[in-house]
Amino acid sequence: MKLSAFGEKFTSHTGILALMDDLGRAMSGSEKKFMLGGGNPAHLPEMNALWRRRMEEILADGDRYERMLANYDPPQGNSAFISALAGLLRREYGWDIGPENIAITNGSQVSFYILFNMLGGLSSDGERRRILFPVIPEYIGYADQGTHPEDFVGLRPNIELIDEHTFKYHVDFSTMNITEDISAICVSRPTNPTGNVLTDDEIVQLDSIARTANVPLIIDNAYGDPFPGMIFEDVQPYWNDNIVLGMSLSKIGLPSTRTGIIVARPEIVRAVSSCNAILSLANGSVGQTIVTPLIESGELLRSSREVVRPFYQEKSRQAVEYLRASFGEDIPYAVHKSEGSLFLWVWFKDLPITTLELYERLKRRNTIVVPGRYFFFGLEHEWGHKDECIRINFAMADEDVRAGIAAIAEEARAARR
Ligand SMILES: Cc1ncc(COP(=O)(O)O)c(C=O)c1O
Repeated sequence: MKLSAFGEKFTSHTGILALMDDLGRAMSGSEKKFMLGGGNPAHLPEMNALWRRRMEEILADGDRYERMLANYDPPQGNSAFISALAGLLRREYGWDIGPENIAITNGSQVSFYILFNMLGGLSSDGERRRILFPVIPEYIGYADQGTHPEDFVGLRPNIELIDEHTFKYHVDFSTMNITEDISAICVSRPTNPTGNVLTDDEIVQLDSIARTANVPLIIDNAYGDPFPGMIFEDVQPYWNDNIVLGMSLSKIGLPSTRTGIIVARPEIVRAVSSCNAILSLANGSVGQTIVTPLIESGELLRSSREVVRPFYQEKSRQAVEYLRASFGEDIPYAVHKSEGSLFLWVWFKDLPITTLELYERLKRRNTIVVPGRYFFFGLEHEWGHKDECIRINFAMADEDVRAGIAAIAEEARAARR
């Protein structure tokens, strides 16, 4: 097979491929696995009951079911869903948003592929444009989405040591220099993999820097408000016409419907819709059809606040407790302050092996985590920190999380002997 540069890039051994592969195998094999890798949200009985109820309503509603399955929507997305969502964002946050500000994609993974390659990469004048990630480590799923390795620039954050076993990353504004080649700035908030939530001040400052440089600020809100609401800090959702806000139906419990949302100024929404038409004609309608009346009635918002957020907040507290109990005082470690999302980010200080090796050892005993290095991309200089961290998904059953964390502690101890 003769491959193009695109073909070579997209078929190489990527972190996201290894991750999805491990996840798929762990979920399908017959042997018991402790699946603390991947980004699968939990199956919440209340949410599953809601989806089931909606499916029954759709089936009972004349030809609604057939229209959902047998019609293409416009490339921008389903009009009823878009109007309902614009109404929700106007009502809740007072944002000046209409249907012209919203485009749907086949999952927010696709949203970012479109945005990064529409704004980053080679321009028609032959200049290379780059996407700036101000806080590395950042979401593994972005790492390989550019068509050229130099499309992404990542910056090292400041590390605040909160107590002996807790830390938090902050944007290091002193190193931030928006050169001519930067065409967008991107952060996930809450951040995958760390559970960090950038402060309101950091977001305002990033927004101001982006405006001054005349580039959009992309905020990936896959875990944030108004849904799924996996955010435990009292911070404000943020949008204006220079922000491109990414949202998703995945983490509230509908990952298989592949529904991504982009909230942006009309120029960007039209551009994303054009890309949709070329890449996929239209978007899947199932998630949008299930969710539209739940947005209109306020049920989705209520469920996010009263079911999803408390569930993950408690899971996070519990996971940190398991970690403290298993790690004791003999393993030097710190965990990132858990402010949102469904991950713990653990930093092993002075571990004699890399966390890639730790991951391999854990895999041999059926415990799956994600080694830190895949989340470090675009950095100008090597940073040893990348081989000292792992990401743990705490959305699984408590007993699995506890047993998985105990296995991690045992392997970390064994590595130090
Ligand atoms: C920060 C972040 N952005 C985007 C995605 C992609 O989600 P989806 O394509 O399912 O909407 C994920 C998935 O884990 C994520 O963690």
